[in-house]
Amino acid sequence: MQTDFLVIGSGIAGLTYALKVARHCPDKRVMVFTKTTSDETNTKYAQGGIAGVWDNENDSFEKHIEDTLIAGDGLCNEHTVEIVVKEGVDRIKELIEWGAMFDRDADGEYALGKEGGHSEFRILHHKDVTGKEMERALLEAIKAQPNIEVNTHWFVVDIITQHHLGYLVTKATPDIECFGVYALNLRSKKIEKIEASITLLATGGNGQVYRTTTNPVIATGDGVAMVYRAKGRIENMEFIQFHPTALYEPGMKGQAFLITEAVRGDGAILRNSEGEAFMEQYDHRRDLAPRDIVARAIDNEMKKAGTEHVWLDCRHMDREKFLHHFPNIYEKCLSIGIDVSQNMIPVAPAAHYSCGGIKADEWGRTSIRHLYAAGECASTGLHGANRLASNSLLEAMVFAHRAYEDAVHKIKNTSGNEWGAWNRANIPDWRAEGTTAPKEMILITQSLKELQLLMSDYVGIVRTNKRLERAMRRLDLLHIETEELYKTTEVSPQLSQLRNMITVGYLIVKSAQFRHESRGLHYNTDYPSKSELVQNIVL
Ligand code: FAD
Ligand code: SIN
Repeated sequence: MQTDFLVIGSGIAGLTYALKVARHCPDKRVMVFTKTTSDETNTKYAQGGIAGVWDNENDSFEKHIEDTLIAGDGLCNEHTVEIVVKEGVDRIKELIEWGAMFDRDADGEYALGKEGGHSEFRILHHKDVTGKEMERALLEAIKAQPNIEVNTHWFVVDIITQHHLGYLVTKATPDIECFGVYALNLRSKKIEKIEASITLLATGGNGQVYRTTTNPVIATGDGVAMVYRAKGRIENMEFIQFHPTALYEPGMKGQAFLITEAVRGDGAILRNSEGEAFMEQYDHRRDLAPRDIVARAIDNEMKKAGTEHVWLDCRHMDREKFLHHFPNIYEKCLSIGIDVSQNMIPVAPAAHYSCGGIKADEWGRTSIRHLYAAGECASTGLHGANRLASNSLLEAMVFAHRAYEDAVHKIKNTSGNEWGAWNRANIPDWRAEGTTAPKEMILITQSLKELQLLMSDYVGIVRTNKRLERAMRRLDLLHIETEELYKTTEVSPQLSQLRNMITVGYLIVKSAQFRHESRGLHYNTDYPSKSELVQNIVL
């Protein structure tokens, strides 16, 4: 198969980019690939909303920029922050034009929410199901665009690259070109070569590397692992954000239900096992301190008391208002016997967001030519050491737009012959000789369990040198065993994802070992303070 624009991922980043390139170039073909259904994405589960400066009386770009920089703990790229905050409002307006609906107050103005680390009310939302509403609007707009094909149930295994050895070859700037991807059609079970002039990776996050996460099962860090295998640059992987308040259910593992931070924005209070509101002991912003601080405080309270959760108290909140803003949370809690107006909600931190990822410049370009990255899989410099709540949907749209601008410029100004130094006829088909169907799924499922446990136990909210060393040794063994299996077994999503998650685990641990300080989301008790050396870890 051949296409002009190839998009891997159907979340907010992939879909907004696809719509834009398709509308701008109606004579070009745009193919979107997604590994399950079109809407099964991290985007679909976004609750709190999307941050943007709407209230021009009380809020300003400067305030949003400052809040983002404070959360990022000295590691944000200030230029990127300015780009996202200033361009973000136009991107949100486009989303509204495409049909996304956000809640309004009695005067017809947008009802703005507040979350941790924000100094003003600036979060647009659709009840507590903002992401679902965005996916709905974008997928509808895509359906009406004749030159976009959305291919569901295709698992992208690897990007197709060629490494040029003749020039520009230093370790810092290897010259690599991308020609598309190899993808497994999950219906026909065949791996096909999909050639593209331009490829965008919008493969989302990697929460599934941990035992408990707010992310759905698709979030296995495939894009990051593919780029690392292709020798592209990956940045700041140690900064994994744990959301402070996932709903605690006994024996929880896999995807946990989120209790949005907006609930605390509306007045909910965290309490420990003794019923004490503990956040004021940790930060003057109390329950609305940035996430790293709140998650660490909860972790500490749980460890002190030997409990598996703390409580979120909403009992004093106006029931009608709660029902209106958070109907999904209300229903979910009720379904497990918790009436939030009478009972406190048990909550615990869960892996939520990857601040690092594929290193991308201000146009979404990666270190590999013709390959762009946007959304959660990319590291643009916006989040630094810790992401400000509700900034990621914004970042995804801003960088999808910038990648679109750069890509259409490139495609219009490059003739077919100049495109790539590699004769397309030379791109090999996928070679599956010598492999057989997996005989023992237990080898895959057990390794996955081991990976998730070791990442949660040794590479969680609080880290030490010893724990990181131990994690690395375990990862090494998992890597060796999984590579042996991969060489002899037919490719399946389960095995590929395991392989990708081991790579992502390795990148997180390696980056954490390189960072000899505690900053933002990376807290190592062997280096409890911040270093004077402000650096990004690039692998
Ligand atoms: P995703 O939406 O995750 O999409 C990834 C896509 O890539 C999927 O279509 C998937 O199938 C595809 N894909 C991945 N690997 C492959 C492969 N190998 N082959 C084929 N396809 C592949 N952020 C906010 O700003 N505000 C919020 O309120 C908010 N709430 C959140 C609540 C929850 C529960 C979660 C989990 C996240 C939340 N976030 C929020 C974060 C935000 O939702 C994500 O960062 C964002 O949606 C990521 O969008 P994306 O387009 O990068 O990727
Ligand atoms: C939430 O609603 O608490 C999640 C917001 C985010 O992750 O940005």
